[in-house]
Amino acid sequence: MAERVLAEVAASVARLRAAGVTPALATVLVGDDDASAGYIRIKQRQAAELGFASPHVHLPASASQADLHAVVADFNADRGVHGVLVQHPIPVGLDYDRALAEVDPDKDVDGMHPVNMGRLALGLPGPLPCTPAGIEALLAFHQVPVAGREVVILGRGATLGRPLALLLAQKRPTANAAVTVVHTGVADWPRYTRRAEILVAAAGVPGIVRPEHVRPGAVVVGGGVRYEGRRLLPDVDESCARVAGAITPRVGGVGPTTVAMLFRNAVEAARRQSGVG
Ligand SMILES: NC(=O)c1ccc[n+]([C@@H]2O[C@H](COP(=O)([O-])OP(=O)(O)OC[C@H]3O[C@@H](n4cnc5c(N)ncnc54)[C@H](OP(=O)(O)O)[C@@H]3O)[C@@H](O)[C@H]2O)c1
Repeated sequence: MAERVLAEVAASVARLRAAGVTPALATVLVGDDDASAGYIRIKQRQAAELGFASPHVHLPASASQADLHAVVADFNADRGVHGVLVQHPIPVGLDYDRALAEVDPDKDVDGMHPVNMGRLALGLPGPLPCTPAGIEALLAFHQVPVAGREVVILGRGATLGRPLALLLAQKRPTANAAVTVVHTGVADWPRYTRRAEILVAAAGVPGIVRPEHVRPGAVVVGGGVRYEGRRLLPDVDESCARVAGAITPRVGGVGPTTVAMLFRNAVEAARRQSGVG
């Protein structure tokens, strides 16, 4: 699914370039966190492969909130830049949410700006949060019926559970589900997950979802992960594959679809802002 989306993005980029517009996705990295630098490198490599320009600013860990906002303001004002991404996490002492709020909502390729979360809540068009949008697209790609079915999401975090609940409850053929969100406030959450036709793990607690929490034949989407060093620890225990009707793979599931949605948001931003395509 991710490959198909990226092929569509590359075709859109080619059309924009043929019309004289080079889509540009700007990135901002603060500090020297190895993982963050690694994510930026992956995104820049992918951007180059797809034909995007990717201007980049690397601020030192000693940068102030005002320094960060100034970089964001420059990219906002630059008509040659269509998307702006501040890599998360940023050093302790800086406020990521405040920096995100400074990004022009129409250049917010993560779809996480408060204005875009508001658009999502109101059902207005705008860039969608990448991980939830990738999960909806993944279910559609694999022809998993969602409309009218019972979806249970374990976790109500701002990046995944909460926006996914809004998305899958929307009145659209690939959504339109009966969505339930469970969290630490629902001690008996397995009661809900066991009746889910589609179960999405979005907790970030390794191994929290076990076979006894899954309805036989259910579709299980593993979104939550935690990293211990370079080791990826998913929410969904691998033994759930015995019970599930379909399940995302441990590696190569929701991660690649998230990246594909990021570039889809970026090329859409370039199309909107340039009026081409
Ligand atoms: N694969 C990807 O590309 C990708 C992209 C983005 C995010 N993620 C992953 O998705 C996960 C969720 O991220 P997020 O930022 O949306 O969430 P978050 O802010 O970390 O929140 C986690 C949610 O899980 C709930 N939870 C945690 N432990 C629980 C437990 N023992 N029982 C029941 N509920 C529990 C929390 O409940 P409370 O609200 O009650 O505390 C909270 O709602 C993370 O693991 C993140 O790494 C993956």
